[in-house]
Amino acid sequence: MLPTPHIETTNKEEIAKTVLMPGDPLRAKFIADTFLEDVKQFNSVRNVLGYTGTYKGKRISVMASGMGMPSIGIYSYELFKFYDVENIIRIGSCGGYTPDVKLYDVILAKDVWSESSFAKVQGGYESDIIEGTEALNQRLKKYADELGIPMHVERIHSSDVFYRENYEEYKEIYAKHGCVAVEMEAFALFHNAKVLEKNAACLLTVSDNLATHEATTSEERQNAFTNMMKIALEMAE
Ligand code: HPA
Repeated sequence: MLPTPHIETTNKEEIAKTVLMPGDPLRAKFIADTFLEDVKQFNSVRNVLGYTGTYKGKRISVMASGMGMPSIGIYSYELFKFYDVENIIRIGSCGGYTPDVKLYDVILAKDVWSESSFAKVQGGYESDIIEGTEALNQRLKKYADELGIPMHVERIHSSDVFYRENYEEYKEIYAKHGCVAVEMEAFALFHNAKVLEKNAACLLTVSDNLATHEATTSEERQNAFTNMMKIALEMAE
């Protein structure tokens, strides 16, 4: 069954058991260039760049997910099901729904609420909340502690829509569901991990805040999220 439609390597061994997944292919390249040694590229299909290397002497891969649940749904499924990947840690950006989460704060998604049909369509899952893998979350909390990086552990919102006609809707989602921030991928990633009996976690850095209207530039987004990356890189094994 290898290669898959979206990943070109025919050798499973080229991908580590743990994959970090930023949305942006250039962020995957930045992580490989900045933090990894003995790097080998294993994917370039659609410019969705994937690399494996070592961090502090231990193996880890990094591959982009693209934006949105359909995209991360494809890549995470192929990695889990066909390349024997065990752990995927999404490392992304998010929009804060409350002034309590400030620009550049790191959030670990304890669980995710979504109005998306992804989980129902993919596997008949009816709930609108899915949890990340507790064992991964415990490890990520420990690494954040050891590195002295403060981290919120909260429920987030996965949305299919970036540009909503009703901008104010976020207030209701925060009040009703307790989501402190919004991104567009975790619900599909957590669902795929669940149905395939694999592990997934989601670390986010706040890139903008809907309540305070603060925002970072796209250049800052690409390069300045190193705290979150350092926590996730400790997953190398
Ligand atoms: N909405 C959805 N996804 C996001 C946002 C946002 O405001 N910011 C970063 N990712």
